[in-house]
Amino acid sequence: FAPKQLVGQHLLVTAGPTFEAIDPVRGITNLSSGKMGFAIARAAREAGAEVTLVAGPVHLPTPRGVRRINVQSAEQMLMAVEQAVDAATIFVATAAVADWRPALASEQKIKKDGSGEVPALAFVENPDILARVAQSPRARAGQLFCVGFAAESHDLLAHATAKRLRKQVPLLVGNIGPATFGQDDNALLLIDADGHRELPHASKRVLAQQLVADIASRLRAAPAA
Ligand code: C5P
Repeated sequence: FAPKQLVGQHLLVTAGPTFEAIDPVRGITNLSSGKMGFAIARAAREAGAEVTLVAGPVHLPTPRGVRRINVQSAEQMLMAVEQAVDAATIFVATAAVADWRPALASEQKIKKDGSGEVPALAFVENPDILARVAQSPRARAGQLFCVGFAAESHDLLAHATAKRLRKQVPLLVGNIGPATFGQDDNALLLIDADGHRELPHASKRVLAQQLVADIASRLRAAPAA
Protein backbone atom coordinates (compact mmCIF):
# COMPACT_ATOMS: atom_id res chain seq x y z
CA PHE A 1 0.00 0.00 0.00
CA ALA A 2 1.66 3.19 -1.21
CA PRO A 3 1.53 5.69 1.66
CA LYS A 4 1.02 9.44 1.55
CA GLN A 5 -1.01 9.54 -1.65
CA LEU A 6 -3.46 11.98 -0.08
CA VAL A 7 -1.09 14.48 1.52
CA GLY A 8 -2.63 17.94 1.26
CA GLN A 9 -6.18 16.54 0.94
CA HIS A 10 -8.96 16.68 3.52
CA LEU A 11 -11.39 13.78 3.39
CA LEU A 12 -14.82 14.04 5.02
CA VAL A 13 -16.67 10.74 5.44
CA THR A 14 -20.08 9.82 6.85
CA ALA A 15 -20.49 6.37 8.40
CA GLY A 16 -22.93 4.14 10.20
CA PRO A 17 -26.71 4.30 10.50
CA THR A 18 -28.81 7.21 11.67
CA PHE A 19 -31.26 7.00 14.56
CA GLU A 20 -34.57 8.77 14.14
CA ALA A 21 -36.42 9.34 17.41
CA ILE A 22 -40.05 8.34 17.93
CA ASP A 23 -40.05 9.40 21.59
CA PRO A 24 -37.32 9.74 24.26
CA VAL A 25 -36.80 5.98 24.49
CA ARG A 26 -37.66 4.68 21.01
CA GLY A 27 -36.50 5.24 17.49
CA ILE A 28 -35.91 3.87 14.02
CA THR A 29 -32.51 2.80 12.80
CA ASN A 30 -30.86 0.18 10.56
CA LEU A 31 -28.17 -2.48 10.69
CA SER A 32 -25.28 -0.49 9.23
CA SER A 33 -22.15 -1.24 11.29
CA GLY A 34 -20.11 1.73 10.08
CA LYS A 35 -17.16 -0.55 9.38
CA MET A 36 -16.63 0.52 5.75
CA GLY A 37 -16.70 4.23 6.56
CA PHE A 38 -14.34 3.81 9.52
CA ALA A 39 -11.98 1.76 7.33
CA ILE A 40 -12.00 4.54 4.73
CA ALA A 41 -11.27 7.14 7.42
CA ARG A 42 -8.33 5.07 8.64
CA ALA A 43 -6.95 4.38 5.16
CA ALA A 44 -7.23 8.04 4.16
CA ARG A 45 -5.45 9.13 7.34
CA GLU A 46 -2.69 6.59 6.69
CA ALA A 47 -2.43 7.99 3.17
CA GLY A 48 -1.66 11.41 4.65
CA ALA A 49 -5.05 13.12 4.41
CA GLU A 50 -6.63 15.18 7.12
CA VAL A 51 -9.79 13.22 7.97
CA THR A 52 -13.12 14.21 9.49
CA LEU A 53 -15.49 11.34 10.29
CA VAL A 54 -19.16 12.05 10.92
CA ALA A 55 -20.46 8.93 12.64
CA GLY A 56 -23.97 7.79 13.45
CA PRO A 57 -24.51 5.58 16.51
CA VAL A 58 -21.94 2.75 16.19
CA HIS A 59 -19.63 0.90 18.55
CA LEU A 60 -16.31 1.38 16.81
CA PRO A 61 -13.07 2.98 18.00
CA THR A 62 -11.99 6.20 16.32
CA PRO A 63 -9.08 5.58 13.93
CA ARG A 64 -5.87 7.26 15.09
CA GLY A 65 -5.48 10.87 13.97
CA VAL A 66 -9.06 11.16 12.75
CA ARG A 67 -11.41 13.94 13.93
CA ARG A 68 -14.73 12.35 14.82
CA ILE A 69 -18.12 14.01 15.18
CA ASN A 70 -20.88 11.83 16.63
CA VAL A 71 -24.46 12.35 15.53
CA GLN A 72 -27.77 10.53 15.87
CA SER A 73 -30.26 11.69 13.26
CA ALA A 74 -30.02 12.46 9.54
CA GLU A 75 -30.65 16.13 10.26
CA GLN A 76 -27.77 16.20 12.75
CA MET A 77 -25.58 14.39 10.23
CA LEU A 78 -26.44 16.99 7.58
CA MET A 79 -25.57 19.83 9.99
CA ALA A 80 -22.24 18.25 10.93
CA VAL A 81 -21.40 17.69 7.26
CA GLU A 82 -22.35 21.25 6.34
CA GLN A 83 -20.06 22.59 9.06
CA ALA A 84 -17.12 20.45 7.98
CA VAL A 85 -17.48 20.33 4.21
CA ASP A 86 -15.98 23.72 3.36
CA ALA A 87 -12.58 22.50 4.58
CA ALA A 88 -12.84 19.21 2.68
CA THR A 89 -11.52 18.31 -0.76
CA ILE A 90 -13.06 14.80 -0.80
CA PHE A 91 -16.49 13.74 0.48
CA VAL A 92 -17.29 10.05 0.85
CA ALA A 93 -20.84 9.16 1.90
CA THR A 94 -20.95 5.64 3.32
CA ALA A 95 -23.63 6.31 5.95
CA ALA A 96 -26.89 4.39 5.71
CA VAL A 97 -29.03 7.46 6.29
CA ALA A 98 -32.65 6.74 7.17
CA ASP A 99 -34.81 7.75 4.22
CA TRP A 100 -37.67 8.83 6.48
CA ARG A 101 -38.08 10.03 10.05
CA PRO A 102 -41.17 10.23 12.25
CA ALA A 103 -42.86 13.54 11.45
CA LEU A 104 -43.12 14.42 15.13
CA ALA A 105 -40.93 12.95 17.86
CA SER A 106 -43.00 12.85 21.03
CA GLU A 107 -41.39 14.72 23.92
CA GLN A 108 -42.80 12.20 26.35
CA LYS A 109 -42.72 8.43 26.20
CA ILE A 110 -45.76 7.19 24.30
CA LYS A 111 -47.74 5.15 26.82
CA LYS A 112 -49.60 1.93 26.23
CA ASP A 113 -53.00 2.74 27.71
CA GLY A 114 -54.50 -0.74 27.74
CA SER A 115 -57.20 0.06 25.20
CA GLY A 116 -55.50 -2.00 22.52
CA GLU A 117 -55.12 1.06 20.32
CA VAL A 118 -51.84 1.29 18.47
CA PRO A 119 -50.12 4.58 17.68
CA ALA A 120 -49.97 5.63 14.04
CA LEU A 121 -46.60 6.91 12.88
CA ALA A 122 -46.46 9.56 10.18
CA PHE A 123 -43.18 10.00 8.34
CA VAL A 124 -41.41 12.81 6.52
CA GLU A 125 -38.52 12.44 4.12
CA ASN A 126 -34.99 13.08 5.36
CA PRO A 127 -32.60 15.34 3.46
CA ASP A 128 -30.31 13.57 0.99
CA ILE A 129 -26.93 14.61 2.35
CA LEU A 130 -24.87 13.31 -0.57
CA ALA A 131 -27.09 14.86 -3.24
CA ARG A 132 -26.97 18.22 -1.47
CA VAL A 133 -23.20 18.20 -1.11
CA ALA A 134 -22.74 17.05 -4.71
CA GLN A 135 -24.80 20.03 -5.89
CA SER A 136 -22.78 22.58 -3.92
CA PRO A 137 -20.78 25.14 -5.90
CA ARG A 138 -17.42 23.70 -4.79
CA ALA A 139 -18.37 20.20 -5.87
CA ARG A 140 -19.64 21.48 -9.20
CA ALA A 141 -16.43 23.46 -9.70
CA GLY A 142 -14.31 20.33 -9.15
CA GLN A 143 -12.94 21.50 -5.78
CA LEU A 144 -14.70 18.76 -3.83
CA PHE A 145 -14.61 15.19 -5.14
CA CYS A 146 -17.80 13.35 -4.11
CA VAL A 147 -18.16 9.59 -3.74
CA GLY A 148 -21.43 7.78 -3.05
CA PHE A 149 -22.19 4.23 -1.98
CA ALA A 150 -25.03 1.93 -2.92
CA ALA A 151 -26.32 -1.23 -1.29
CA GLU A 152 -28.81 -2.99 -3.56
CA SER A 153 -30.46 -6.34 -3.26
CA HIS A 154 -30.50 -6.96 -7.03
CA ASP A 155 -29.37 -5.49 -10.38
CA LEU A 156 -26.49 -3.68 -8.66
CA LEU A 157 -24.86 -2.31 -11.82
CA ALA A 158 -28.07 -0.88 -13.26
CA HIS A 159 -29.30 0.58 -9.98
CA ALA A 160 -25.92 1.94 -8.96
CA THR A 161 -25.37 3.49 -12.39
CA ALA A 162 -28.74 5.22 -12.15
CA LYS A 163 -27.92 6.36 -8.62
CA ARG A 164 -24.62 7.88 -9.79
CA LEU A 165 -26.46 9.96 -12.36
CA ARG A 166 -29.29 10.91 -10.02
CA LYS A 167 -26.95 12.05 -7.24
CA GLN A 168 -24.57 13.63 -9.76
CA VAL A 169 -21.40 12.18 -8.29
CA PRO A 170 -18.31 11.27 -10.35
CA LEU A 171 -17.83 7.98 -8.49
CA LEU A 172 -20.43 5.59 -7.09
CA VAL A 173 -19.34 2.49 -5.20
CA GLY A 174 -21.64 -0.51 -5.15
CA ASN A 175 -21.54 -3.07 -2.37
CA ILE A 176 -21.36 -6.47 -4.02
CA GLY A 177 -23.24 -8.16 -1.20
CA PRO A 178 -25.28 -10.04 -0.64
CA ALA A 179 -25.17 -9.18 3.07
CA THR A 180 -22.46 -6.62 3.77
CA PHE A 181 -23.99 -5.01 6.85
CA GLY A 182 -21.84 -5.89 9.82
CA GLN A 183 -19.43 -8.10 7.86
CA ASP A 184 -15.68 -7.60 7.98
CA ASP A 185 -15.25 -8.12 4.26
CA ASN A 186 -16.96 -7.22 1.03
CA ALA A 187 -16.40 -6.74 -2.70
CA LEU A 188 -16.95 -3.40 -4.41
CA LEU A 189 -18.04 -2.19 -7.82
CA LEU A 190 -16.57 1.20 -8.83
CA ILE A 191 -18.77 3.04 -11.31
CA ASP A 192 -17.81 6.25 -13.07
CA ALA A 193 -18.70 8.05 -16.30
CA ASP A 194 -16.46 5.70 -18.33
CA GLY A 195 -17.72 2.38 -17.00
CA HIS A 196 -17.07 0.15 -14.04
CA ARG A 197 -14.47 -2.10 -12.45
CA GLU A 198 -14.56 -4.53 -9.57
CA LEU A 199 -12.48 -4.61 -6.42
CA PRO A 200 -12.67 -8.32 -5.64
CA HIS A 201 -13.60 -9.85 -2.32
CA ALA A 202 -11.28 -8.68 0.49
CA SER A 203 -11.39 -7.26 4.00
CA LYS A 204 -12.98 -3.84 4.36
CA ARG A 205 -9.55 -2.60 5.47
CA VAL A 206 -7.93 -3.68 2.19
CA LEU A 207 -10.89 -2.46 0.11
CA ALA A 208 -10.71 0.92 1.83
CA GLN A 209 -7.01 1.17 0.96
CA GLN A 210 -7.75 0.28 -2.66
CA LEU A 211 -10.58 2.80 -2.83
CA VAL A 212 -8.39 5.53 -1.33
CA ALA A 213 -5.69 4.73 -3.91
CA ASP A 214 -8.31 4.91 -6.66
CA ILE A 215 -9.57 8.30 -5.44
CA ALA A 216 -5.99 9.58 -5.16
CA SER A 217 -5.25 8.62 -8.76
CA ARG A 218 -8.43 10.37 -9.92
CA LEU A 219 -7.35 13.54 -8.10
CA ARG A 220 -3.89 13.34 -9.66
CA ALA A 221 -5.47 12.97 -13.10
CA ALA A 222 -7.79 15.94 -12.53
CA PRO A 223 -6.36 18.17 -9.79
CA ALA A 224 -8.82 20.34 -7.88
CA ALA A 225 -9.65 23.49 -9.77
O1 C5P B 1 -30.50 6.73 -2.16
P1 C5P B 1 -29.63 5.81 -1.38
O2 C5P B 1 -29.86 5.90 0.10
O3 C5P B 1 -29.60 4.40 -1.83
O4 C5P B 1 -28.16 6.40 -1.66
C1 C5P B 1 -27.03 5.91 -1.02
C2 C5P B 1 -25.96 6.96 -1.02
O5 C5P B 1 -26.47 8.25 -0.68
C3 C5P B 1 -24.93 6.68 0.04
O6 C5P B 1 -23.71 7.24 -0.38
C4 C5P B 1 -25.51 7.40 1.24
O7 C5P B 1 -24.53 7.71 2.21
C5 C5P B 1 -26.05 8.65 0.61
N1 C5P B 1 -27.25 9.20 1.28
C6 C5P B 1 -27.17 10.41 1.97
N2 C5P B 1 -28.30 10.94 2.56
C7 C5P B 1 -29.48 10.31 2.48
C8 C5P B 1 -29.58 9.08 1.79
C9 C5P B 1 -28.45 8.56 1.22
O8 C5P B 1 -26.08 11.00 2.05
N3 C5P B 1 -30.56 10.84 3.05
